[in-house]
This record gives sequence, structure tokens and C-alpha cells, in this order.
Amino acid sequence: GSGLNGKWVSHGKKFWGTCADSNTLNIASNANIIKSDFGQVTPENSMKWDATEGSRGNFNFGGADALVNWATSNGKLIRGHTLVWHSQLPSWVSSINDRNTLTSVIQNHISTVAGRYKGKLYGIEILNEDGSLRSSVFYNVLGESFVTIAFTAAKAADSTARLYINDYNLDSNNAKTQGMVRLIGRINANQKYIEGVGTQMHLGAGGAGGAQAALTALASTGLEVAITELDIAGASSNDYLTVMRACLGISQCVAITSWGVSDANSWRSSSSPLLWDSSYRPKAAYNSLISAL
Ligand code: XIL
Repeated sequence: GSGLNGKWVSHGKKFWGTCADSNTLNIASNANIIKSDFGQVTPENSMKWDATEGSRGNFNFGGADALVNWATSNGKLIRGHTLVWHSQLPSWVSSINDRNTLTSVIQNHISTVAGRYKGKLYGIEILNEDGSLRSSVFYNVLGESFVTIAFTAAKAADSTARLYINDYNLDSNNAKTQGMVRLIGRINANQKYIEGVGTQMHLGAGGAGGAQAALTALASTGLEVAITELDIAGASSNDYLTVMRACLGISQCVAITSWGVSDANSWRSSSSPLLWDSSYRPKAAYNSLISAL
């Protein structure tokens, strides 16, 4: 293939993806770029807890189904995102304070969402931004056991999707990265619950220098590694090249997902962090990636 994903997979990588949802898929110029240059989509918001189970036991799959159906009809892989996260979490979940209720709520949420898309997802980011065991309802009520509760429920619901833990600020071999490596070591000591580790990589200009060290540290877990939400505020071509080469050089780094296509629709829009400008024209950074591949 000639687009970004086509050139990337010719180097043995699985995909270069982007986030999307109906709001961005309905923009024709945006959808056309995804068709030509990306091999995978992540639901930007539609598969999160607030979108799928706004009140207990009442599930809404309108947005997530639309994304999954678009991906299936257009031959794109899908990363599920995300089942257990302290953010975009309805208050009915964050106010639960007993272990049994929270355990069954997590199990029901995961089995219903992952079960609905069983067999259709390349991977699922089961936990998001919890690698450092932050103070969340999940950790505060259940302690570290929520990790195995979540991964066990996901495996039972979908035995083929690769089950990921995902986090931010894993941009160098820093204390948070090392904590993530230790957490995976503890959880997986006797059984491989966690099958992949994602680093979001929401970077700033000049901030890519630690990427290779971060990926190397994460790969020391023995798991596959992916960059899951790449964007670089005020990026130069060199920033993008540095990240791409870091993944290229590590065989366990299987994929990169950009957090959007055009600056027009980025959650960090004002910092122009993506590979297409706000008029859907490829930027210099895009051209430099294509040339280097
Ligand atoms: C962001 C979306 O891009 C926004 O549209 C939404 O308003 C907030 O969430 N880390 C994550 C993503 O894991 O889900 C977040 O996505 C960006 C930070």
C-alpha cells in the first residue's frame, strides 16, 4: 500500500491507526484519509463507560456499533477503548463503596461490552490510566484485585482480543514506566492476565527523546507493546520521525495509533498535534514519515 499504514505494515508492523467516532467519520474528507492511510480505528469516546452504561444495567451501543460497523465494512482493525477508567465514568459507579457490588458491576460491564464485540476486536484497552494505581473508586474499594477481576471478566467475554493495560506519561523510562513494569510483573506472576501494554504518548515538541527507552522498558515485560494515542503538540517532522523509529526498532512494538487525523478535530486542537492540518491537508511531518518508510 502507498498510504501511511500500507508503508508501515510493509516493515512487519500490524497497523497504524487513528481514533474515530460517528462525528468524525461523517466528515467525508476525514473518512477518506482514514480509508487511505490508516489500518485500525479506536472509538474516541463511544465505548467509554459514560457512553455505554450511563445508568446501571442500561446499555447503549449506538455510537460504538456505528464505529465497529464502519471499521468492519472498510476492512479496518479495531482497538476497544476503554472498559475501566476513572474518567468519563458515571457517578453511579464512582459512588459504589462495597466490594461485592463493585465487583459485579465491573464484571457485568466488561462482559456486556466485550461480549457484544466478541471476535471483532484486535485488542481491548481494559484498564486506562490505572497503571500507577491512582486513587479511583476501583483501587479505593477493591485494592489491586480490581486488575485481575477486570482481565478475568474480559478473557471470559472475548478469548481472542488481546487484553491491554494502557496509560499516559509512559514517555521515557521514568518512575511511572517502571511502576507499570512492576505492576504487570505482579499481576502476571502466575498467569498471563495482561497481554499487551499501551503507552498513550500525548507528547509535546521535543518530547520524543525518551520514547525508545520507554518502549524498551515496557517490552521488558515480555508483552506486546503499542503506542495507542499518539499526538505531539507543536510537532516538528523530527518529533514524529523519532517516535516512529523508536517503534520500528523494537520488534515487540506492534502498532501505532494516532489520536485523530486532522488538527480540526483533535482534543488538543489548538496545539496542532496531528499529521493533517485543519483543512485536511497532509503536513510536513506526514510527508517525512512516508519518505522515511
Ligand atoms: C479524549 C477525547 O479525545 C475527547 O474527545 C474527550 O472529550 C475526552 O477524552 N486519554 C484517553 C482518551 O485515554 O480517551 C482521551 O480522549 C484523551 C486522553
